[in-house]
Amino acid sequence: MSEDVRQQLAALFGSITPKSSEKEVEDRIVEPLLKLLGYDTSEWEKQAKVQRARLDYLVYTHHAAPARYYLVIEVKAPHKDLKKSAWQLSRYLRKTGSVLGLLTNGKEFKIFYNYCDRVEEIITLSAEAVIHRYHEFAILLCHGSCQKVMNEFQYIHEYTHSRILGGVARLFKKPELMQISDPNIPISPLEPSENAMIITVFNNKGGVGKTTTTINLAAALNRLGKRVLLIDIDPQANLTTGVGIDPLQDIEHQGKKDITHLLTEARTKASDVIIRRKWTNVTLDVVPSHIRLSDMEPVLINTVDVDRVLAKKLKPCREDYDYIFIDPPPSFGKVNAISLMASDAVLIPTQLSPYPIRALEYVMNRTFSIDESREVPLPILGLAVSMYDRGSKKLALDMKELIYELLSKDGRRKDIELFPDTTWIPRLNVVSTSPNKGQPICEAEFDDDLQQRERDAALDAFNCYTLLAKHVLKVSEAIARA
Ligand SMILES: Nc1ncnc2c1ncn2[C@@H]1O[C@H](COP(=O)(O)OP(=O)(O)OP(=O)(O)O)[C@@H](O)[C@H]1O
Ligand SMILES: [Mg+2]
Repeated sequence: MSEDVRQQLAALFGSITPKSSEKEVEDRIVEPLLKLLGYDTSEWEKQAKVQRARLDYLVYTHHAAPARYYLVIEVKAPHKDLKKSAWQLSRYLRKTGSVLGLLTNGKEFKIFYNYCDRVEEIITLSAEAVIHRYHEFAILLCHGSCQKVMNEFQYIHEYTHSRILGGVARLFKKPELMQISDPNIPISPLEPSENAMIITVFNNKGGVGKTTTTINLAAALNRLGKRVLLIDIDPQANLTTGVGIDPLQDIEHQGKKDITHLLTEARTKASDVIIRRKWTNVTLDVVPSHIRLSDMEPVLINTVDVDRVLAKKLKPCREDYDYIFIDPPPSFGKVNAISLMASDAVLIPTQLSPYPIRALEYVMNRTFSIDESREVPLPILGLAVSMYDRGSKKLALDMKELIYELLSKDGRRKDIELFPDTTWIPRLNVVSTSPNKGQPICEAEFDDDLQQRERDAALDAFNCYTLLAKHVLKVSEAIARA
C-alpha cells in the first residue's frame, strides 16, 4: 500500500473523537472511505428504505439476482459498542439479500458475510488494523470486487434459467423458447437423469492417493453441480473415516449396515446402507466400510455370482447420481474384481515416481483382463497424477517420459491418456491432514482451527481438484457418448 493511502486513512480515522456523533463518522470516515475504495456517490444509497427499515448505506454497482446488493453499512457513534448492533446488521443483510455487511463506529470495523441468509461475522478490525491491512480490506470491499461478484451472481442466475428454459423448450417441443437460451449450455436440470457413470479409482499399489483423490474429486464434482455416491470397499475404511464417519461409533454401535452387508446379504439394498454427509458447500452420499470386510474373503468366494453382486446392488440407484466412485483396497483380491465388474470405467491415480509407475503395468493389465471377461468394455479414463512435487520439475518431466514409454509399449495402452499437468494434484501438507478432520479439503475455507496460510494452501489444492474434476467430466462424457 502506498504511503499516500496510509496517510489518507490515518487522517480520516484521526478526524473523529470519542465524543463525535454518528453523522460525523458517516461524513468524515465512511463516505471518504467508500470513495477511496473506488465507489462513486451514485453507487450508494444513504438512508435507504428497505421495507420498514432505514439502512445507513446500501452499496452496489448494479443489481444481480439473487444477490441484490453487495454491501450494507450500518454506522454507530464512536462511544457505541458494536457487539450490540450485530443483530441489526444481520437483519438488514437478510432483508436486502446483500453479500457483505460492514458495521462501524469509526474505531472498529466488523465485516459480516451473508451466505443464503446465514450471516457470519468474518473479521473485526480496529482503525489501526484497517490501515495496516488495507490491502485485504480493499480486496473484499472495493468497487472492482463488487462488480466482479455481482457479475458472477448474474451469470450463474442467467445460466440456470437458460438451462431450465432449454429443458422446457425440449420437453414441450417449443423451439421458440430456445432462441433466448444459449445453445452451448449443457443438459437442462429438468431433463430425466442419465444413468450414473460408475468409476473405480484403481491402483493396486498402496498409498498412491486413491482415497484422497476419490474424496476430493467427488467434492469438486459436487461443487460443479454433480450428484455423487462414494463406495468404500476397502477394509481399511480410510474413505469412510475421511468423510467423517466412524465405522465403530457411527455404524456398528448404531446397528447400521455397511458394505459387508451390501455384498453378503441378498436382501440388503444400497439405499439401506447409504449415509448422507453434508458440509457447508458439499453433499456426498457414502456406502461406508468396516474392518470386518477383511474377514469376508471366504464368504465372498462362496457367494453365487459374486463378481456381479455390486453391479446388481448399484443398478437401482444409478438414476439418483451422476457419478458413483468405488474406492478399493491396494490388492488384487476378490473385492477388486467385484469393483471392476460393477464399473463403467476406471480412473488410475499415480505418483510421478519410479515404483508407482512400474506398478502401472500391472494395473493396466489387470484392467484389460477384466475387460476381456465382460460383455461391455471397461475403458480407462486416464492416469491422474497425485502428490506431485512442484519443486521437482525435472523429475516430473523424466517420469512423464517414463509413462509415455510405458504406454507406447503395448497397442492396448496407446490410447490411455496421462491427464494434463493442469490437473495434477500437488503434494501439500494440508491435503494429508484433511482426512483427520473427516471432510473434503474445500471445507478448510470454513475451518477456524486453521491458519490463513493453511486455508490458502487448501484452496490452492482444491482448485487443482476442480481442474481434475472438469477434465474427468470431459473424458467421461466423451466415453459415455462413444
Ligand atoms: N496431494 C497430497 N499431498 C500430501 N499428502 C497426500 C496427498 N494425497 C494423498 N496424500 C497422503 O498420502 C497418503 C496416501 O494417500 P491415500 O490414502 O489417498 O492413498 P491410497 O492409494 O488410497 O492408499 P491405500 O492403498 O492404502 O488405500 C495419505 O497419508 C494421504 O493423506
Ligand atoms: Mg485408500
